[in-house]
This record gives sequence, structure tokens and C-alpha cells, in this order.
Amino acid sequence: MNTQELKHLSERLMTGDKGLLAMDESTGTCNKRFKALGIPQTEEYRRKYRQLIVTTPHLEESISGAILFEETLQQLTDDGQSFLAILKQKDIIPGIKVDQGTSPLPFFPGETITEGLDRLTERMANYYQMGLRFAKWRAVIHIDTDLPTKTAISANAFTLARYAAICQEAGIVPIVEPEVLMDGSHSLQTCAAVTEDVLKEVFNALYEQKVSLEGMILKPNMILPGLTCPDQNNTETIAQQTIHSFMKVVPAAVGGIAFLSGGQSPCLATERLNMMQLRYGPQMPWPLTFSFSRAIQQPALEIWKGNDQNIKAAQQSLAHRAACNSAARRAEYHAEMEKNHTSSNAGS
Ligand code: G3H
Repeated sequence: MNTQELKHLSERLMTGDKGLLAMDESTGTCNKRFKALGIPQTEEYRRKYRQLIVTTPHLEESISGAILFEETLQQLTDDGQSFLAILKQKDIIPGIKVDQGTSPLPFFPGETITEGLDRLTERMANYYQMGLRFAKWRAVIHIDTDLPTKTAISANAFTLARYAAICQEAGIVPIVEPEVLMDGSHSLQTCAAVTEDVLKEVFNALYEQKVSLEGMILKPNMILPGLTCPDQNNTETIAQQTIHSFMKVVPAAVGGIAFLSGGQSPCLATERLNMMQLRYGPQMPWPLTFSFSRAIQQPALEIWKGNDQNIKAAQQSLAHRAACNSAARRAEYHAEMEKNHTSSNAGS
């Protein structure tokens, strides 16, 4: 493992006021989002959509790295260029989702384990050859009565650490994503307690498997009340609790923290990131940014709807959301920026 190279790569991913764009939806997830908008669920439409994303003007001003899905690696634009080549021209580092989704965890109803470790070493060497320099693995933790169990937390933590070690051995920066879902009626305090437990277990596993913390990026959920919790906390409280929890359990050596959006509305996700930077920016030991999928893409997808005539407007919306998140990273985001962008709260 070349720790210096990994550290340098993670610094490039976390550079300045930029963040990551997750465009790595699996075929099933992408089709589900297409179906909801009446877009044909075919490989060709997925190609067209991802072409729209990578060719968005000014995207590189806010985005340092893009996480791709396997299918996209082989696809070409209308004029025959590979998506990877376009990203490289824009100096956007290409990454890849390497997990293969979740399966039920045997004997633990309601809990899941993420699949994809088989032959990962071989796959990773291949990805490196193709020019991919970072990867993503998502573990999913469910909150419910008596959930999560200790077994589900430790099984997912061990798996995340195995994946991270395999990445680093291949010269690829791992994005370690233990997502505590927003589904449910749990409180902010419950989300905080569960997320802290999960992160403690994940960092123990990472230490045990000798993963270089400087050469990895954590992709966590923000600390939020469940979607159906009657007490929906304000932005100030959410920012305060999120940073408080992370300061307790995320080692200062970590290369960076890049949040997932997890189903928050685009504007709220941006507003909360902005508040964290505004209130706690100078105190944080790690760079803090975004790695959103829905909170950047959803408004653009709803404008595009599979129609070529809407490409330009959809790209403007995508660039706008990326720019808003970049402003949030500088603690300079404000509601005025959403004027003339009425679709900004789509997907809430
Ligand atoms: O794995 C999840 C994605 O990378 C982030 O998606 O921002 O829609 O939660 P999201």
C-alpha cells in the first residue's frame, strides 16, 4: 500500500470547496426512479441520462469526483467518447461503486449485509487499470424496535473494513459508507446513539485491518430524526448534534467526511451542510463536504423526464445544485440562491 499516494488522492477528492457526485445508482434503483417519472427503463435511457450528467457545463467547478456504476464504464456518448474520458478532461476523478447491494442477514429479521467481497481483489486491480481511483461500499443499518442488533453492526463493520483494505492495497481510496437509514419514527437522539455505535465499530474494524485513515473518506448519514418522527428538529440542532457526535467518534486522521443525502430534500441537505460549516467549520479536524446522489440529481431528473428538449434545463439544474452545495461547503449558501430555481425542493 502506498499510503502517501492514497493520502494525496483523498486530499484531491476533498479539495477546496468541492464535493462528490454519486451517480452510481444500481440498475434497479435507477429504473425505479425512471419509472416514477415515466422514463423508459432501458440501458439506452440510462446511458442518455448519465451522458446528460457528465457533459453538464461547469460541473467540474463544484465536483471533484464522480462515483459511477459498473454499466457506465463501458458506455459511450453520442459522439463516441467514453464517460471516463470526459470526466478526466474535466479533471473530475472517476470512482466506482463496488458493492453488489444488500441481502437479508440470516437469522436477523429486518437487517441486511452488503454483498460483493468475492473476487474483489481481482476486480479492484482491473478498476485501477481503467483509471478509477476511488471506490464506494454502502452498508445499511436499520433503526426499529430492538434494531439494529450488535451482530448486524459488527458484520457490516467487518465487511466495510475488508473492502477498504482491499481498495487500499490496489491503490484506490475507499469511501466507507455506513448508512443509518432515516426510515422510521425514531428521534434525533436515537439516530445519534445508533450512528455513534456504528461508527465506533467501523473504526475499530478499520484499525484491526490496518486501513490507513488518511487514505480513506467516510460517507455517513447526517444525524437526523426519523422521517415520521413527530419532532422534526431545526437546522441548528441537527448541525450541532451531527458535529458533536462525529467529534466524539471519528478520528482526526480521517481524510475527510462526505455526507450522503439519504432522502432529505435537496435544499434541506444543503442548508444543513452550510450550518455545520458556519457554526463549526474552524473546529473540525477533518474536511467536511457532500457526496449526494438524490439531493443533486433529483430536480434535474424531474426536468429531463427522458426528453432531449429538456437536457439543457436539466443540466442547469444539476449545475445549480452542485454549486449550492459547494457554497455550503464555504458556509456561503443562502436561500436567495434558490430564486428562479423552483425545482430545487423536488424529491422531498
Ligand atoms: O449510496 C448512496 C449514494 O451514494 C448517496 O445517495 O445522496 O441519495 O443518499 P443519496
